[in-house]
Amino acid sequence: MRSRNGGFIGLISLLAVFAMAPVRAQTSDQIQAALDAAYAKYKDIKEGKNADYIPALARVDPKIFGIALVTTDGKIHTAGDVKSEVSIQSISKVFTMAKVMEQQGPDAIVQRIGVDATGMRFNSIVAVEFAEKALGGPEINPLVNPGAITATSMVQGGSRDEVWQSILDFHSAFAGRPLRVDQEVFDSEAASNQRNQAIGALMYAYGFIKDNPGQAVDIYTEQCAIAVNAKDLGTMAATLANAGKNPVTGKQVMKVQNVPEVLAVMATAGLYDDSGKWLYRTGLPAKSGVGGGIIAVSPGKFGIAVVSPPLDEAGNSVRAQKAITDISNTLHGNPYAPVSAKAK
Ligand code: DON
Repeated sequence: MRSRNGGFIGLISLLAVFAMAPVRAQTSDQIQAALDAAYAKYKDIKEGKNADYIPALARVDPKIFGIALVTTDGKIHTAGDVKSEVSIQSISKVFTMAKVMEQQGPDAIVQRIGVDATGMRFNSIVAVEFAEKALGGPEINPLVNPGAITATSMVQGGSRDEVWQSILDFHSAFAGRPLRVDQEVFDSEAASNQRNQAIGALMYAYGFIKDNPGQAVDIYTEQCAIAVNAKDLGTMAATLANAGKNPVTGKQVMKVQNVPEVLAVMATAGLYDDSGKWLYRTGLPAKSGVGGGIIAVSPGKFGIAVVSPPLDEAGNSVRAQKAITDISNTLHGNPYAPVSAKAK
């Protein structure tokens, strides 16, 4: 017997079938076309300005613009300049946080630092005061400076060198090649990082950092000076998209079970006080750095990175935000999108 709502139910069934339709794969040509289109569209825009609170960053060529998308089956697509290196800056916070999870488990991050958005700038001291006084505990996250310096202090090792080497090796494994430090950037930031030294001292005073805050700030400053190009960053992002296995080298770089927590913190706080806007537009866990890089992760599909130094007011690369948004939306990268719109 046909129900009185037969037409409506029929429509719903049709939509359900449509929603369960198999995921359509993007071809290499479609991916390359999306990268080329974004590169051409944003190559000549003049918005934004290099970070200059670290003097060496003001000297970086603002015209550098490179895009790299690496699929979870290890195919690398590029557009523009993917060879020029910039300093990784805050993008390193993701991998140092992951290193702490590897050594101590994800709960160590929640218990010591917190995983909540501060809604404030990345180097806010008020955010620490507020978390300590008003909220009474670890209510920040490892992607803003106070939480990041604390995370660096938590990396295990018998000496400064051992801690540093394990951080550098971990970043290199994600990139799939041995990375090095840009000494000019390290020296420049070390000479001008009094605010971060104050943040380290405050985190020590409140008991978040247990010992030697000066060393934590020094290693944090060095990790921020790791030199990377767009291809390195794209591969690092793809390793997170591929459940912690570098899809280019085939090496399992981090534990599969820690990847969701890493992505969750990126989604919450990866673009600082603009994280909500970013997630609204793209749905992608991501992380920016004041060197001009942004990485973004479409789980199970691809990692993408753009390098372009001019930043907006929140400290995020202007071209990188625009290019990643366009490319991901063209390739159905948003993990929250209805199933019917998804394609691999
Ligand atoms: O601590 C700093 O100020 C820099 N080394 C890193 C800041 C950063 O990249 C924030 N990013 N958007």
